[in-house]
Amino acid sequence: MSHEANATVVNPLPAPLRGSASVPGDKSISHRAVLFAAMAEGTSRLSGVLDSEDVRSSIRAVGQLGAQVSLEKQPDGSLAGGVTGWGAAGPSQPEAPIDCGNSGTTVRLLMGVLAPWNVRVELTGDDSLQRRPMRRITAPLMKMGARFEPEGRETLPLTVCGSEGLRAITYDAPMASAQLKTAVLLAGVYARGTTTLNEPSPSRNHTELMLPEFGVTTTAADRTASVTGPAALRACEVQVPGDPSSAAFLVCAAVLKPDSSIQVENVSLNTARIGFTRTLERMGADISVRHTGAAGKEPYGIVSACYTPNLHGCEVPADKIATIVDEVPVLAVVAAHARGVTVFREVSELRVKETDRLAAIVEGLETLGVDAWIDGNDLFVEGQPGLQVPVGAAFDSKNDHRLAMTWALAGLCGNAPVEVENFDSVKISYPQFLTDIERLAR
Ligand code: S3P
Repeated sequence: MSHEANATVVNPLPAPLRGSASVPGDKSISHRAVLFAAMAEGTSRLSGVLDSEDVRSSIRAVGQLGAQVSLEKQPDGSLAGGVTGWGAAGPSQPEAPIDCGNSGTTVRLLMGVLAPWNVRVELTGDDSLQRRPMRRITAPLMKMGARFEPEGRETLPLTVCGSEGLRAITYDAPMASAQLKTAVLLAGVYARGTTTLNEPSPSRNHTELMLPEFGVTTTAADRTASVTGPAALRACEVQVPGDPSSAAFLVCAAVLKPDSSIQVENVSLNTARIGFTRTLERMGADISVRHTGAAGKEPYGIVSACYTPNLHGCEVPADKIATIVDEVPVLAVVAAHARGVTVFREVSELRVKETDRLAAIVEGLETLGVDAWIDGNDLFVEGQPGLQVPVGAAFDSKNDHRLAMTWALAGLCGNAPVEVENFDSVKISYPQFLTDIERLAR
């Protein structure tokens, strides 16, 4: 790779991807481990925590709120160590606003963390985060008794005005969002009675699985999760498995690059997260999954993938989108190489991610010469077996980490170099992405 101004030139991999790799810790589980440990009484021991900008936003935030964090860099690049929480004393009133950077998970979960305490905390973030919708979180928390200032404002910066007398609620979420579910459940831990969150389709369930490790009972079924308060978190040990959303990039690369065959080890195999393996299977990709263990209640194992020349289009139904919500961009690039049309149903949530990923996918595929379109809230990709990357193809990551890796992948697995504007944004979730993929292709 080489850099020109803000553009990174990504060259085709010189060889097939071969051998084993492991990916850094899961971002969703890392955020929760840090935040829940900060809420708990005592010192939790965390290992395998992802060291990326987003998780650093959570670490900085809980530090400002009074948790003692001593996580240190390990030889494998992860963070491990202790976090001593504020427990029954509650978070301390920070002197300055909390800047959550690019991290939607940090800011949305923090709203639920802070709502049950008598604090006033201003939350803000970078330009992207300041454009993202927050009403989906503030609406249920206001029903519970928290306030947000300025009143009626739907985007950051916002000040959370917590209250120690929160009411338990039953809330029907308008969209499947684990961030929304988690914020409500975390506030519910301190509210008197049972707080229940119903969702239109199942979103990732890391919160429901991890809270019991911290001594808080949760009940969870297909589209509903509850917690009964008031309860209290106590310190525990959390081991974070590898991030399936990062593994998806290596797996998709292996499926697209001729003669490849790889295994990605220690990947979270939580069924709410590995929808991408099912989508690839439906496209006819040669991949398999093997369980090898569990970290707490989170299963992990090995995902194996081989080059597959005869991919075909498939349909992903609306109720499965939450299980691939962060993988749609890279799966769209795989779909671009498949015979026939691939349909991703009801993907409107992609419009409100770090950037409008739906528009960005269509724009990027157009750069590749691939026909893709949006009809209502459905995304269609007309695949082209034997797709060639146009010479001089240039993509804009729009400062979105998953788009940066998606368009880089088109170049890495293709026949010609591509340029990716602001590739640097990979530091949000997978800083060593290029090194890892280039190491597999030596
Ligand atoms: C996340 C949930 C998803 C996902 C995000 C992380 C989480 O967002 O896109 O990257 O850790 O809970 P939504 O809950 O808004 O769908």
